[in-house]
Amino acid sequence: MAQHIIARLGIFLLCIGIGACETSSNANNSPSQTAASSKACTLATPLKPGIPGSPDNPIKSDINPNGDSELSHLMRKMLKDLQKIRPSILAQSKTIPPVQGHERIRCSWPSDPGIRGPLFGALSDTYLSSLKFFESTAPTNDSYNGVVAACLGCHNSFCPGPIHLIQNLWIEGPGDSSP
Ligand code: HEC
Repeated sequence: MAQHIIARLGIFLLCIGIGACETSSNANNSPSQTAASSKACTLATPLKPGIPGSPDNPIKSDINPNGDSELSHLMRKMLKDLQKIRPSILAQSKTIPPVQGHERIRCSWPSDPGIRGPLFGALSDTYLSSLKFFESTAPTNDSYNGVVAACLGCHNSFCPGPIHLIQNLWIEGPGDSSP
């Protein structure tokens, strides 16, 4: 079943391991880096040079001693967040561990700054609306899987490496937790 749905999403099962995805895009609209500080986090938000995760200051870790982009770092947190939520959904719990900061996908330094274009923007919006819908309604397998599908939707276009990890988040069957 999951295989079916995933196939319908056009996800291919090529697993090339976790890693940065610099080579996955050929867009080249670099973000503007003029000074402007705002709480807004959109594709137009200028990225601040020099902050942790920016090209000159990658975030080093045991997983990647060479250092990761700000976006990679955020993505690992997003993966962990969903790994925490999944058991609550399986247990049909009404209380879901809250998540924070995912909206920052639109204003975090990617390894390849060129990806911050209209397609990335549209796929970010799809993801963030799926997450909002999931958080604002009684949790169901479907609304949870909607979030996972939106992760996959973007990865299919931009970063196929971690797809196998994201597929592991999928929950099979309708299993609606409402009575
Ligand atoms: C709008 C596009 C988009 C969405 C939505 C998205 N990702 Fe990503 N993801 C990326 C890009 C681009 C990268 C590569 C980041 C980089 O190299 O800077 C990435 C990288 C990753 C990585 C690898 C991080 C590493 O170790 O370098 C994981 C794991 C990941 N994403 C999981 C997820 C999960 C789980 C979700 C949903 C909860 C998700 N992604 C949603 C675009 C997206």
